[in-house]
Amino acid sequence: MHGSAALARIAPSGTTAMTDRAIELRESGLDIISLSVGEPDFPTPPHVIEAAKAALDAGQTKYTAVGGTSQLKQAAALHFARDLGIEVPASQVTVSAGGKQAIFHAMLATVSEGDEVIVPSPWWVSYPEIVRFAGGKVVPLLTSAKDNFRFTAADLEAQIGPRTLWLLLNSPGNPTGAYYPEEMLRGIGEVLRRHPRVMVLSDDIYAPINYAIDSNGGRPHATLANLCPDLADRILTVSGVSKSHAMTGFRIGVAAGPQWLIKAMEKLQSHSSGNPCSISQAAAVAAFAGPQDFLAEWRERFRQRRDKVVAAINAIPGLSTPTPDGAFYCMIDAAPLMGRFGDDMKLTLHLLEHGVALVPASAFGGRDGFRISFAADDARLEEALRRIEKALT
Ligand SMILES: Cc1ncc(COP(=O)(O)O)c(C=O)c1O
Repeated sequence: MHGSAALARIAPSGTTAMTDRAIELRESGLDIISLSVGEPDFPTPPHVIEAAKAALDAGQTKYTAVGGTSQLKQAAALHFARDLGIEVPASQVTVSAGGKQAIFHAMLATVSEGDEVIVPSPWWVSYPEIVRFAGGKVVPLLTSAKDNFRFTAADLEAQIGPRTLWLLLNSPGNPTGAYYPEEMLRGIGEVLRRHPRVMVLSDDIYAPINYAIDSNGGRPHATLANLCPDLADRILTVSGVSKSHAMTGFRIGVAAGPQWLIKAMEKLQSHSSGNPCSISQAAAVAAFAGPQDFLAEWRERFRQRRDKVVAAINAIPGLSTPTPDGAFYCMIDAAPLMGRFGDDMKLTLHLLEHGVALVPASAFGGRDGFRISFAADDARLEEALRRIEKALT
């Protein structure tokens, strides 16, 4: 039996060896602290849970419109306006089974064999695989710790060619926490004006976890569709409730963009998953339209953990990290330790033997480092940092 040609173009997760070893070690009785997961450790807010229960009790258990209920489209439009400054009618919003599916459908609906997609690296693991599955060619745009893992407008322009179709822009980003402030986005907008074929997928799923919001005098989260409205007809902004509202299991993502693209994504969705889960949609309405005050508190707790991680890591010889401006990840540079360990996979396996599960930078198209997710309980996080120090010194 053979898989399809499209399947052959994608790679299995680069972390399988790590996960297998973590299971083995746990089964042998070792206490493993996982700093490898990409989801908040906080419980889903009670008003969201109540909305899901009420939807069940009300019998909302049937098919909905393929691209989401009108209530959720309206609540998502409210979220785009309030949190991202993007004014869109509900008809230019679509709902899918997680942000991941929105990205998958956007690429499958637009990319033809040989189209190029610029993907800044280190990247979120699914971006390059989705592009390749769709038949596109991944053009990596390398960023490094010394630039806080951000590319400049000039870096971008150097990668654009006649076949460039998309730029995948993730801010704040996974796995680096990099955030592109207003000035940088305006520069990127200038480049895009010179290249009218290029579209941008702006993945803003971590926007509510943006520490710069609190430290830059109340300036809101910056995003391209808000700052460059003249480019709005080629920007798809992706968001959701998974990260901001601790709802990863509900599988709801939303996207706002030009009508033709939203329609194309819904056409595809009508033949893949169909509508997103009806109960989850009702819960997501409560998430977007209900109280948001807990977000500031969660952000503050994440910020305190971030500061703890950055201080502890930068005090360990051979490790360093810039301070991320958003999300709940730190990308740690361990280049000085490569002589001792060989590569970052071997280094993370060594740290796993000392009781901490992490993801090597190479799984994200980076090198010589690893990602820490600080979406973990404070006491466990502190213990994990102690173990990393002990394992390396
Ligand atoms: C950058 C980024 N985009 C999208 C997603 C997808 O999120 P969801 O769980 O809503 O599919 C993730 C999840 O890890 C992510 O890190």
